[in-house]
Amino acid sequence: MDAAIAHIEELVSTADENTRRELRLRLLNIVNSLEDTNDTFHRFAHCHLGSAVVKIGFDLGLFKSLAESKECVTLEIIAERMGADTSLLELPRQRFIANWLRSFEVVAPIYQAMPSFLQKTNYVTPTDPVDTAWQRAFNTPMHALEWLGKHPDKLARFGDYMASRDGPSRGWLDVYPVQEEFATGDWDNGTSRAVFVNIGVGVGHPCAEFKKKFPHLPGRVVLQDLPHKIEQVPPVSGAESMAHSLFDEQPVKGAKYYFMRGILHNYPDHLAKVLLERVRDAMAPDSALLLDDYVVSEQWPDFYSRSISDLTMLGTFSSQERFEEQWCSLFESAGLRLVKSYPLNDPPTSETVMEVRLK
Ligand SMILES: C[S@@+](CC[C@H](N)C(=O)[O-])C[C@H]1O[C@@H](n2cnc3c(N)ncnc32)[C@H](O)[C@@H]1O
Repeated sequence: MDAAIAHIEELVSTADENTRRELRLRLLNIVNSLEDTNDTFHRFAHCHLGSAVVKIGFDLGLFKSLAESKECVTLEIIAERMGADTSLLELPRQRFIANWLRSFEVVAPIYQAMPSFLQKTNYVTPTDPVDTAWQRAFNTPMHALEWLGKHPDKLARFGDYMASRDGPSRGWLDVYPVQEEFATGDWDNGTSRAVFVNIGVGVGHPCAEFKKKFPHLPGRVVLQDLPHKIEQVPPVSGAESMAHSLFDEQPVKGAKYYFMRGILHNYPDHLAKVLLERVRDAMAPDSALLLDDYVVSEQWPDFYSRSISDLTMLGTFSSQERFEEQWCSLFESAGLRLVKSYPLNDPPTSETVMEVRLK
């Protein structure tokens, strides 16, 4: 066994990002298969404990203090600073804080409400986005996004989390061949058409990345979001900000690219179809709709897309994460077709850019 472990440790120490991801998935399967009934029971029974402990760390100011420390600090120093007996965990990074705060304050209540909600609905898959575990969890008749709009502190947590997803790893421009498409020289009609419309921009990175990578491509670059949201999006040099609701007629016609990231998984099929139709009606024959969303991999159904995000979508919006086949029938229902999927990683994690065009 020592030799086997040493071999794995060696692999870990030299692994690049892709190998690490594959290794983690395979080792997790092995670890799970090693559990006995008791282990599995405890893993689920105490899964909220980690969150509670992290909350205590925040309440004590532990992470702030650690982040501000210039040198290594011992457990004793930490305990003295906190006025507490014990402290835990390692240096947090921004991503961790954003993820965690959102999870504890906005997501954990949904999970807690989910069992009684599903019992009430007799375990029929919900399809109404204003009758979900969310409404039970937050004691509101409002849609989750409407409720968040009225609770700026929680909305800010959500925004921090969405922004934290833009880490150093690969993004849509690393996989989608924009350059090749323009190499044909067909895109020569000056600035009359929009070249890139980011619908539901949220934090606004894709437009900025597009402008930075292709500063000289002619055509308007447009950021769209709800009126209250678009006011908060930092302007991108050379791009227009526009108030727009996903359910309204798309005002920018015939753009080269319409881009949506992390939007459609917030909607059950009957509403996602409407949103797709709004874009379809604006598309020209050579337009492409680029959807950066999760495509659950048949081969690598990772825990995040298959469990965490899927259940969060269910409990929040009566929605789900989708396999490629489910995406294809959704596109078909809206008069569109999937041309090609570009997974962001290899072996694929579920985040994928889907190129969708008119049928
Ligand atoms: C889940 S966020 C995704 C944000 C961003 N695309 C990203 O990947 O970080 C959904 C975005 O769609 C926007 N949106 C625009 N119109 C909307 C509508 N009618 N209903 C709900 N959200 C809408 C929201 O304000 C929000 O910024």
